[in-house]
Amino acid sequence: MEVLEAIYKRHSVRHYQTKPIEDEVIKQLENFVEKCNQDSGLKFQLVLNDENAFKGLLAHYGKLSGVRNYIALVGGISSDLDTKVGYYGEKCVIKAQQLGLNSCWLALTFNKRNVINKCTVKKGEKLVAIIAIGYGVNKGKAHKGKFLEDISSMKDDSPEWFKNGVKIASLAPTGLNKQHFYLELVGDHKVKLNNLGGKYSKIDLGIVKYHFEVGAGIENFEWV
Ligand SMILES: Cc1cc2nc3c(=O)[nH]c(=O)nc-3n(C[C@H](O)[C@H](O)[C@H](O)COP(=O)(O)O)c2cc1C
Repeated sequence: MEVLEAIYKRHSVRHYQTKPIEDEVIKQLENFVEKCNQDSGLKFQLVLNDENAFKGLLAHYGKLSGVRNYIALVGGISSDLDTKVGYYGEKCVIKAQQLGLNSCWLALTFNKRNVINKCTVKKGEKLVAIIAIGYGVNKGKAHKGKFLEDISSMKDDSPEWFKNGVKIASLAPTGLNKQHFYLELVGDHKVKLNNLGGKYSKIDLGIVKYHFEVGAGIENFEWV
Protein backbone atom coordinates (compact mmCIF):
# COMPACT_ATOMS: atom_id res chain seq x y z
CA MET A 1 0.00 0.00 0.00
CA GLU A 2 1.36 3.40 -1.01
CA VAL A 3 1.76 6.20 1.56
CA LEU A 4 -1.08 8.25 0.04
CA GLU A 5 -3.51 5.33 0.10
CA ALA A 6 -2.56 4.64 3.74
CA ILE A 7 -3.26 8.29 4.61
CA TYR A 8 -6.74 8.04 3.08
CA LYS A 9 -7.44 4.76 4.90
CA ARG A 10 -6.18 5.86 8.34
CA HIS A 11 -8.68 6.80 11.03
CA SER A 12 -8.27 6.67 14.81
CA VAL A 13 -9.19 3.22 16.11
CA ARG A 14 -9.84 2.83 19.84
CA HIS A 15 -10.94 -0.82 20.09
CA TYR A 16 -8.50 -3.62 19.34
CA GLN A 17 -8.58 -7.39 18.87
CA THR A 18 -6.45 -9.49 21.24
CA LYS A 19 -4.71 -11.06 18.21
CA PRO A 20 -0.94 -10.53 18.55
CA ILE A 21 0.92 -8.68 15.81
CA GLU A 22 2.74 -11.07 13.44
CA ASP A 23 6.51 -11.40 13.89
CA GLU A 24 7.30 -10.22 10.35
CA VAL A 25 5.14 -7.10 10.83
CA ILE A 26 6.80 -6.38 14.19
CA LYS A 27 10.22 -6.66 12.55
CA GLN A 28 9.32 -4.18 9.82
CA LEU A 29 7.76 -1.72 12.26
CA GLU A 30 10.76 -2.00 14.62
CA ASN A 31 13.14 -1.27 11.74
CA PHE A 32 11.05 1.73 10.71
CA VAL A 33 10.94 3.14 14.26
CA GLU A 34 14.71 2.68 14.51
CA LYS A 35 15.24 4.52 11.21
CA CYS A 36 13.07 7.42 12.47
CA ASN A 37 15.19 7.55 15.63
CA GLN A 38 18.39 7.64 13.58
CA ASP A 39 17.08 10.43 11.33
CA SER A 40 15.64 12.55 14.14
CA GLY A 41 17.62 11.79 17.30
CA LEU A 42 14.32 10.90 19.02
CA LYS A 43 13.99 7.85 21.30
CA PHE A 44 10.77 6.20 20.12
CA GLN A 45 10.21 2.74 21.61
CA LEU A 46 7.89 -0.02 20.44
CA VAL A 47 6.24 -1.68 23.46
CA LEU A 48 4.46 -4.99 22.89
CA ASN A 49 2.01 -6.99 25.01
CA ASP A 50 1.57 -4.45 27.80
CA GLU A 51 -1.89 -4.77 29.23
CA ASN A 52 -1.44 -2.08 31.88
CA ALA A 53 -0.92 1.04 29.79
CA PHE A 54 -4.62 1.72 29.74
CA LYS A 55 -5.73 0.56 33.17
CA GLY A 56 -7.35 3.30 35.25
CA LEU A 57 -9.98 5.97 35.01
CA LEU A 58 -8.63 7.97 32.10
CA ALA A 59 -8.53 4.96 29.80
CA HIS A 60 -12.17 4.34 30.60
CA TYR A 61 -12.94 7.98 29.91
CA GLY A 62 -11.19 7.72 26.54
CA LYS A 63 -13.26 4.67 25.60
CA LEU A 64 -10.32 2.47 24.65
CA SER A 65 -10.28 -1.30 24.73
CA GLY A 66 -7.93 -4.15 23.88
CA VAL A 67 -4.83 -1.97 23.49
CA ARG A 68 -1.66 -3.97 24.23
CA ASN A 69 0.85 -2.49 21.82
CA TYR A 70 2.05 1.05 21.39
CA ILE A 71 4.92 3.27 20.38
CA ALA A 72 6.14 5.37 23.31
CA LEU A 73 7.08 8.77 21.87
CA VAL A 74 10.12 9.79 23.90
CA GLY A 75 12.71 12.43 23.08
CA GLY A 76 15.23 14.87 24.52
CA ILE A 77 13.60 18.00 25.92
CA SER A 78 13.93 20.94 23.50
CA SER A 79 11.71 23.73 22.15
CA ASP A 80 10.89 21.73 19.00
CA LEU A 81 10.40 18.33 20.69
CA ASP A 82 6.59 18.20 20.27
CA THR A 83 6.70 19.14 16.59
CA LYS A 84 9.43 16.59 15.87
CA VAL A 85 7.42 13.94 17.73
CA GLY A 86 4.37 14.84 15.62
CA TYR A 87 6.28 14.60 12.34
CA TYR A 88 8.05 11.30 13.01
CA GLY A 89 5.15 9.84 15.01
CA GLU A 90 2.83 10.34 12.05
CA LYS A 91 5.38 8.66 9.77
CA CYS A 92 5.14 5.63 12.10
CA VAL A 93 1.30 5.80 12.06
CA ILE A 94 1.24 5.71 8.26
CA LYS A 95 3.83 2.93 8.14
CA ALA A 96 1.68 0.91 10.59
CA GLN A 97 -1.33 1.45 8.30
CA GLN A 98 0.73 0.24 5.32
CA LEU A 99 1.54 -2.89 7.32
CA GLY A 100 -2.17 -3.60 7.87
CA LEU A 101 -2.36 -2.23 11.42
CA ASN A 102 -4.66 0.38 12.94
CA SER A 103 -3.62 3.11 15.34
CA CYS A 104 -4.59 6.02 17.56
CA TRP A 105 -2.55 8.98 18.79
CA LEU A 106 -2.94 9.35 22.57
CA ALA A 107 -1.64 12.32 24.50
CA LEU A 108 -4.11 12.16 27.38
CA THR A 109 -6.12 8.98 27.75
CA PHE A 110 -3.44 6.52 28.81
CA ASN A 111 -1.74 5.71 32.08
CA LYS A 112 1.48 7.72 31.84
CA ARG A 113 3.07 6.26 34.96
CA ASN A 114 2.56 2.67 33.75
CA VAL A 115 3.98 3.47 30.33
CA ILE A 116 7.06 5.15 31.82
CA ASN A 117 7.68 1.93 33.80
CA LYS A 118 7.70 -0.04 30.55
CA CYS A 119 10.08 2.13 28.57
CA THR A 120 13.25 4.13 29.05
CA VAL A 121 12.95 7.85 29.72
CA LYS A 122 16.35 9.18 30.76
CA LYS A 123 17.12 12.42 32.56
CA GLY A 124 16.55 15.34 30.17
CA GLU A 125 14.04 13.31 28.14
CA LYS A 126 10.25 13.32 28.09
CA LEU A 127 7.43 10.95 27.18
CA VAL A 128 5.31 13.23 24.98
CA ALA A 129 2.52 10.86 23.90
CA ILE A 130 1.96 7.32 22.68
CA ILE A 131 0.51 5.74 19.55
CA ALA A 132 -1.68 2.71 20.19
CA ILE A 133 -1.29 0.08 17.47
CA GLY A 134 -2.80 -3.29 16.65
CA TYR A 135 -5.57 -4.97 14.68
CA GLY A 136 -8.70 -2.91 15.17
CA VAL A 137 -12.13 -4.33 15.90
CA ASN A 138 -13.20 -1.77 13.29
CA LYS A 139 -11.32 0.46 10.86
CA GLY A 140 -12.49 3.79 12.36
CA LYS A 141 -14.31 6.44 10.40
CA ALA A 142 -13.43 9.70 8.66
CA HIS A 143 -13.37 12.74 10.97
CA LYS A 144 -15.46 15.79 10.17
CA GLY A 145 -13.03 18.38 8.89
CA LYS A 146 -13.10 22.12 8.37
CA PHE A 147 -13.42 23.53 4.85
CA LEU A 148 -10.08 23.61 3.04
CA GLU A 149 -10.45 27.41 2.70
CA ASP A 150 -10.68 27.65 6.50
CA ILE A 151 -7.40 25.82 7.10
CA SER A 152 -5.46 27.47 4.27
CA SER A 153 -5.13 30.39 1.89
CA MET A 154 -6.16 28.07 -0.97
CA LYS A 155 -8.01 29.70 -3.85
CA ASP A 156 -9.28 28.42 -7.21
CA ASP A 157 -6.13 29.60 -8.95
CA SER A 158 -3.65 28.28 -6.34
CA PRO A 159 -1.00 25.92 -7.74
CA GLU A 160 -2.08 22.26 -7.93
CA TRP A 161 0.72 21.13 -5.59
CA PHE A 162 -0.54 23.56 -2.89
CA LYS A 163 -4.14 22.35 -3.29
CA ASN A 164 -2.98 18.72 -3.06
CA GLY A 165 -0.94 19.50 0.06
CA VAL A 166 -3.87 21.21 1.77
CA LYS A 167 -6.19 18.31 0.91
CA ILE A 168 -3.83 15.74 2.45
CA ALA A 169 -3.13 18.03 5.45
CA SER A 170 -6.89 18.11 6.10
CA LEU A 171 -6.80 14.34 6.65
CA ALA A 172 -4.20 14.66 9.42
CA PRO A 173 -5.23 13.60 12.92
CA THR A 174 -5.18 16.51 15.38
CA GLY A 175 -5.75 16.62 19.15
CA LEU A 176 -9.52 16.70 19.84
CA ASN A 177 -9.92 17.11 16.06
CA LYS A 178 -9.32 20.86 16.48
CA GLN A 179 -7.37 21.46 13.24
CA HIS A 180 -5.86 24.57 14.82
CA PHE A 181 -3.48 25.32 11.96
CA TYR A 182 -3.40 27.53 8.87
CA LEU A 183 -1.38 26.83 5.72
CA GLU A 184 -0.35 29.93 3.83
CA LEU A 185 1.13 30.14 0.35
CA VAL A 186 3.92 32.75 0.40
CA GLY A 187 5.01 33.91 -3.05
CA ASP A 188 5.19 31.11 -5.62
CA HIS A 189 7.04 28.31 -3.85
CA LYS A 190 6.99 28.90 -0.12
CA VAL A 191 4.54 27.70 2.51
CA LYS A 192 4.07 28.96 6.05
CA LEU A 193 2.42 26.69 8.61
CA ASN A 194 0.78 28.83 11.30
CA ASN A 195 0.00 27.46 14.73
CA LEU A 196 -3.37 28.74 15.96
CA GLY A 197 -2.70 27.48 19.49
CA GLY A 198 -4.26 24.88 21.76
CA LYS A 199 -3.09 22.10 24.03
CA TYR A 200 -1.60 19.68 21.49
CA SER A 201 -1.07 22.14 18.67
CA LYS A 202 2.72 21.76 18.54
CA ILE A 203 2.39 18.00 18.06
CA ASP A 204 -0.39 18.61 15.52
CA LEU A 205 1.89 20.95 13.59
CA GLY A 206 4.45 18.18 13.02
CA ILE A 207 1.71 15.77 11.92
CA VAL A 208 0.26 18.33 9.49
CA LYS A 209 3.75 19.11 8.17
CA TYR A 210 4.27 15.48 7.21
CA HIS A 211 0.85 15.19 5.55
CA PHE A 212 1.35 18.41 3.58
CA GLU A 213 4.76 17.26 2.31
CA VAL A 214 3.28 13.97 1.09
CA GLY A 215 0.39 15.76 -0.67
CA ALA A 216 2.35 18.65 -2.18
CA GLY A 217 5.60 16.84 -2.95
CA ILE A 218 8.65 18.22 -1.10
CA GLU A 219 10.33 19.04 -4.42
CA ASN A 220 7.65 21.67 -5.16
CA PHE A 221 8.07 24.06 -2.23
CA GLU A 222 10.07 25.26 0.76
CA TRP A 223 8.84 25.77 4.32
CA VAL A 224 9.12 29.37 5.54
C1 LIG B 1 -1.67 15.00 19.44
C2 LIG B 1 -2.92 14.15 19.53
C3 LIG B 1 -3.36 13.70 20.75
C4 LIG B 1 -4.50 12.88 20.85
N1 LIG B 1 -4.88 12.40 22.08
C5 LIG B 1 -5.96 11.58 22.17
C6 LIG B 1 -6.32 11.02 23.43
O1 LIG B 1 -5.70 11.27 24.46
N2 LIG B 1 -7.39 10.18 23.47
C7 LIG B 1 -8.11 9.84 22.35
O2 LIG B 1 -9.08 9.08 22.47
N3 LIG B 1 -7.80 10.37 21.13
C8 LIG B 1 -6.72 11.20 21.01
N4 LIG B 1 -6.34 11.71 19.77
C9 LIG B 1 -7.08 11.31 18.55
C10 LIG B 1 -7.93 12.45 17.99
O3 LIG B 1 -9.09 12.63 18.78
C11 LIG B 1 -8.28 12.15 16.52
O4 LIG B 1 -7.09 12.10 15.78
C12 LIG B 1 -9.21 13.20 15.92
O5 LIG B 1 -10.47 13.13 16.52
C13 LIG B 1 -9.38 13.02 14.40
O6 LIG B 1 -9.88 11.75 14.08
P1 LIG B 1 -9.08 10.75 13.12
O7 LIG B 1 -7.74 10.46 13.77
O8 LIG B 1 -9.95 9.51 13.05
O9 LIG B 1 -8.90 11.39 11.79
C14 LIG B 1 -5.22 12.53 19.67
C15 LIG B 1 -4.75 13.00 18.42
C16 LIG B 1 -3.61 13.78 18.34
C17 LIG B 1 -3.12 14.22 17.01
